[in-house]
Amino acid sequence: MTRSLTLPRPDDWHLHLRDGAMLDGIAPESARHFARAIIMPNLVPPVVTGAQAAAYRDRIRAVAGPDFTPLMTLYLTESTDPADVVAAHRDGIITAVKLYPAGATTNSASGVRDFDRVRGVLDAMAEAGIPLLTHGEVTDPEIDIFDREAVFIDRVLDPIRRATPGLRVVMEHITTSDAIAYVNSQPDGLGATITTHHLVINRNHILVGGIRPHYYCLPVAKRESHRQALVGAATSGDARFFLGTDSAPHADDAKESACGCAGCFTATNTMSILAQVFEDAGALDKLEAFVARNGPGFYRLPVNSATITLEKTDNPVTYPDRIDTGAGPVTVFDPGFPLYWQVAQAG
Ligand code: DOR
Ligand code: ZN
Repeated sequence: MTRSLTLPRPDDWHLHLRDGAMLDGIAPESARHFARAIIMPNLVPPVVTGAQAAAYRDRIRAVAGPDFTPLMTLYLTESTDPADVVAAHRDGIITAVKLYPAGATTNSASGVRDFDRVRGVLDAMAEAGIPLLTHGEVTDPEIDIFDREAVFIDRVLDPIRRATPGLRVVMEHITTSDAIAYVNSQPDGLGATITTHHLVINRNHILVGGIRPHYYCLPVAKRESHRQALVGAATSGDARFFLGTDSAPHADDAKESACGCAGCFTATNTMSILAQVFEDAGALDKLEAFVARNGPGFYRLPVNSATITLEKTDNPVTYPDRIDTGAGPVTVFDPGFPLYWQVAQAG
């Protein structure tokens, strides 16, 4: 039985670090294990220009230290200037651009309503090789929340990809077998991130026996068959699927509320959870591809030369229930089962 696993240091291809006191409190949780992360731009106000991305990058670096590289993104709006995007990418400030349909999720009010109005930016991105990262949910009130990802693929994503053939796209935090099937049906230029929590919970976890706000995120977890499909994709070794935790901290009072915020905070125990999920699937040998190789492959970056070692312990791993930050306590995701894989060394 495998008791120890040394991998290239992992990367997180979808992460929310926030700003100010929250950033100060939670950035070390990611920097402890991860070498790089794609940083989401949905601050209030959002990160919409290259200059704002550079300033935010510097604030993250100041907290996270020299061993953690934030890879910045811009928040796409209907008034985004294609020239600013291309210049920010050329100057090494940004790695990608994030598309939020307006109103789809936390802090997405400035997102896109009319996709024709961002056509010029998407063309410029295709030309410059800048990936588009999609929050893949439609926001039409008549579409059931559990169907919003599948409908987005048909109504928004596939038309965008047909209209902009060279555009490289990452479908972020996929939650359905429909999304997996779409990725598998495309010849190239399309990847998908999968979160830690969507590999572990289905919609029953949110709703059975009482409402569990710390399992509420967007896209919302779907039925069990979709979770199983996600585990299948993540553990397949297929280079198009890679880890993006979508670790998204909210102070507990904002989660445990009559109108609770979406987001699961998994930065602290993600590596322990993933090792367990992959071991349970009989696929520990595929963990390295998912957390450390497939993402750099898509983003055309080198695999990290530093390593991380996971060790299997006899007693369950302990980790804090919550992280105390200057912006309030943040509950750490509870996978609902004991964890036996512990990060023994990261560096
Ligand atoms: O659950 C989520 N939380 N999904 C998102 O898309 C945004 C994120 C956040 O920023 O809290
Ligand atoms: Zn996110």
